[in-house]
Amino acid sequence: MDKKEPKILPFNAVIFGGDGDLSKRKIIPAFFHRWIDKQLNMPFKVACVSRKLSDQDAFHKELAKFIQQSSDETVPAKVIKDFLKQVELVNIPKITEENLGGLRDLIEANSDWQRIYYLSVPSAAFSDICSALKGSNLINDTSKVVLEKPLGHDLKSSREINDTISEAFSEKQIFRIDHYLGKETVQNLMVLRFANHLFERAWNAENIDNIQITVAESLGVEKRAGYYDHTGALLDMVQNHLLQLLCLVAMEAPSRLDPDTVRNEKLKVLESLRFFKKDTIADNIVRGQYTRGKSLGEKVNSYLEDIEQYDSETETFVAIKTYIDNWRWKGTPFYLRTGKRMKKRYSEIVINFKPVQHNIFPESKHSMSNKLIIRLQPEERIKLVQMSKIPGPGGYRFQPVALKLDIFDSFEKRMPDAYERLIIDVLRGNQTLFMRYDELEAAWKWIESINKNWKSKAKLVLYESGSWGPGNEIMEEGTQWETNALEK
Ligand code: BG6
Repeated sequence: MDKKEPKILPFNAVIFGGDGDLSKRKIIPAFFHRWIDKQLNMPFKVACVSRKLSDQDAFHKELAKFIQQSSDETVPAKVIKDFLKQVELVNIPKITEENLGGLRDLIEANSDWQRIYYLSVPSAAFSDICSALKGSNLINDTSKVVLEKPLGHDLKSSREINDTISEAFSEKQIFRIDHYLGKETVQNLMVLRFANHLFERAWNAENIDNIQITVAESLGVEKRAGYYDHTGALLDMVQNHLLQLLCLVAMEAPSRLDPDTVRNEKLKVLESLRFFKKDTIADNIVRGQYTRGKSLGEKVNSYLEDIEQYDSETETFVAIKTYIDNWRWKGTPFYLRTGKRMKKRYSEIVINFKPVQHNIFPESKHSMSNKLIIRLQPEERIKLVQMSKIPGPGGYRFQPVALKLDIFDSFEKRMPDAYERLIIDVLRGNQTLFMRYDELEAAWKWIESINKNWKSKAKLVLYESGSWGPGNEIMEEGTQWETNALEK
């Protein structure tokens, strides 16, 4: 951004669940990379709260491994050690007001620093943490709380969680994280749409035939069987990541880039999503579960084998056709699809434009239409597919040609991980890329219109691991899933 960003003030960050997988793989490495890039050149401390661990040296050794893994090049051990001087392990077997003494000493050693409380724990633990922090007077005007999903399993539980958090923190202090919003191409999407005249003029139902959002994963449920079997793909991925991507693709231009103006526009999209009724589920939604197969050349188990159960109806794949009932998108299908153990890991948004109004090359087998491909991962890329004439004499022969619309190749530097960007936003107090409660509530209402009835209305389809999964049955005539479009 051209405008000057606010300065980051010195801070104490406290990670509850500090010895957990997310903290070790993403949060701590994110602090490290921002520090080594000299963005965190102010005094700071990171306290990792653990219920079990108390050996700081062993913990630091483990963190060092994760930091190393997250780096493209070997980082000298001394550099990691210097960083870890800022990271402290705090053992608190049970979070109660009385047990927060050690943490209080640490925070009050620099009582004028801003305080970031990162709750990387199941939401069932939020209440104890918030009341202990509040009871110990550890929350002041500089404090912020970062919440990891899942924030509930339905509208009711999400309201309960929100009530709990709101007793301790105001909405301005709450940062509900969705790491998909920290991905570079997702932010580039805003620039592409709102800083270029060309696209925004054509960004509507009149010019766009359909929009497809795919988040395909090649991994299975790994070690998260307990969590996943109670959650499933709809709540794990669609309720948050896919809906947030949908909002950014479909929203109106905000009049300013301030957090509430942007989030007001996203909210309008969520509120315009067409609700499902009992009789609209079967034709528009597919639920799937992976069976045995081959993933990246290796034989892999079925979902039931992975979770060590004989029976489970939990979906590991979901495909949805939906509509946004407003002026801009009237009648345009939005296809959302996500699944585990699919053939390849990639996330992509494909905007399929309508064919030209009058085709003067009727003998061509190609449809005269454009396609904008926004690839979020593994690589971050944007391409516009347009029709071109193959050079040479002898009439018109056509070929779709992709124009690169990104500048990633011009940068030698590694792309920061989404968590790095989001953590910096928290430290600066910028809530633009974090969900406001009303957005969350609107997302839950739409999800509930599916969740209430879909188990009886959309039967579970089994798909082979390593395949692209089911989902063709919901496509409109003449439309296909754009699978791995960037590489075609
Ligand atoms: C998480 C889900 O939010 O996102 C996981 O809980 C999923 O099930 C992960 O694997 C995908 O994130 P990414 O950034 O690897 O696409």
